Amino acid sequence: MTVKIVRNVASLRREISQWKIQGLTIAVVPTMGALHEGHLDLVREGFKHADRVVVTIFVNPKQFGVNEDLSRYPRDEEGDIEKLAAENVPMIYAPTPDSIYPPGFSSSVHMEGPAMAGLEDKFRPHFFDGVATVVSKLFIQTGANYAMFGEKDYQQLQVVTRMAKDLDIPIEVVGCQTRREEDGLAMSSRNRYLSKTERQQATAIYKNLMQAAEKIRSGVNQQTATRAASRSLTTLGFKVDYVTARNAETLAVPQDEGEPLRLIAAAWLGKTRLIDNIGV
Ligand code: PAF
Repeated sequence: MTVKIVRNVASLRREISQWKIQGLTIAVVPTMGALHEGHLDLVREGFKHADRVVVTIFVNPKQFGVNEDLSRYPRDEEGDIEKLAAENVPMIYAPTPDSIYPPGFSSSVHMEGPAMAGLEDKFRPHFFDGVATVVSKLFIQTGANYAMFGEKDYQQLQVVTRMAKDLDIPIEVVGCQTRREEDGLAMSSRNRYLSKTERQQATAIYKNLMQAAEKIRSGVNQQTATRAASRSLTTLGFKVDYVTARNAETLAVPQDEGEPLRLIAAAWLGKTRLIDNIGV
């Protein structure tokens, strides 16, 4: 199937309205490109929910801080198109920067609640407002019925779910399981920054989260288990931003026994920042 590539909101709406006239449902998969199997899983999951899947590719400057990796963020549009064509994706929305932020653009979606849980927000304070602003625009521009997000960016998943609810955007945000490499490393566009040695070490994040989850299930205190994981990662050469247990929905620090828990971690390996999380 040939993929249609649209670059502006007027063309996008023209295409989408044709589908809507036919009564077809639509799933959107928002991405920043440099697609890997994890993204393709979201596409496949999208097709399980809706008749048509639109993949958006836009490296959103508003979610990068001044010292972050915007300029070196991997871009591979040709490769992305090939991968999506192989999945029979009918349309890619790869907007020009002006289609998302036209001259004079003056709005921002400011998020609280899960966006202020003291996790990613603590280290990337601009991040979730940038994500919420672009994602709300993509939801409104596509008018999709479903939006597919990976659980790997767990806080982001909770933030966009909350945002759609708060802003009455009629879309169902669907969380999809993290796709992992054979050794357990969560797939991420940033993994390509890892050197060969770092790539081997990187799997320790998942292993330590698994060990911590196992300890908590067998009765060890959450803090004791997550601190041990953090110490172990530090010993292995990681610079740990956090390893913590949170309420799986609100991301608040757990107060009661029996709350649904998520173990969430972020750590640097050399110049690459890795994040991961698992349920307990
Ligand atoms: O997860 C990402 O790739 C981005 O944060 C998203 C959701 C596409 C918004 O730019």
